[in-house]
Amino acid sequence: MVPQPLGTRYTVQIKPDWTLTPISTGFLKSPLMQTEHYSTSQFARDVDTCVRKHPNESEVLRQIKPLLEKLILSPGSVPAEAFTPRRDRFAMNLIHMPRDEMFSIIGGVWHPGQTTPIHDHLTWALIGVYDGEEREALFRRTDDGSNPKIAKIENVSERINTKGHVTILGHRGIHRVDNISGKPTTSIHVYGRDIGHAERHSYNPATGEISRFVSGYCNVLRDTERF
Ligand SMILES: [Fe+2]
Repeated sequence: MVPQPLGTRYTVQIKPDWTLTPISTGFLKSPLMQTEHYSTSQFARDVDTCVRKHPNESEVLRQIKPLLEKLILSPGSVPAEAFTPRRDRFAMNLIHMPRDEMFSIIGGVWHPGQTTPIHDHLTWALIGVYDGEEREALFRRTDDGSNPKIAKIENVSERINTKGHVTILGHRGIHRVDNISGKPTTSIHVYGRDIGHAERHSYNPATGEISRFVSGYCNVLRDTERF
């Protein structure tokens, strides 16, 4: 999630909804497995229903958390393209977003040693570990938030999250996620906005500096990359 120049525009090919198509349905041969399987597309439909039914942030998080837990524990539930890595940085691949951009579902990949900055989302967020393990540090601001360029933040917790773990963050949540293991880490994220196009903040804990950035998506071309 390397900061991109502000004002960079991205284009999402909306069909009406932007959905990454699963590439394999081979696991659907058994009637029993069909009953147990929970697909990404079904998860997207359930999230869509939830966010339109519950305008309250805490209720949305409470309702989606068990759905995300079910998705990340369901074998083969996520198309492989969602976890296309990048050599140069942590990868964010858009899986699904409705036309009105009420939420976005992302596949995240960290190669060993890759990290995010300390950052916020300025919306509610759920992050579920699909495979591997991630180290997640949570932070909070201790200043009054009145200076848009400088913040005081403190680390409130740090833990290793493994497959099946779901972190929930409200719109004031601040965290950093990295991979200190020797294997890739993959995860599914849900945000209450078009997170790849949204301007948000990264934080320098040493200087207090706040930087604005737009992350983009690795699998959605910027306007400048189209031909
Ligand atoms: Fe994040």
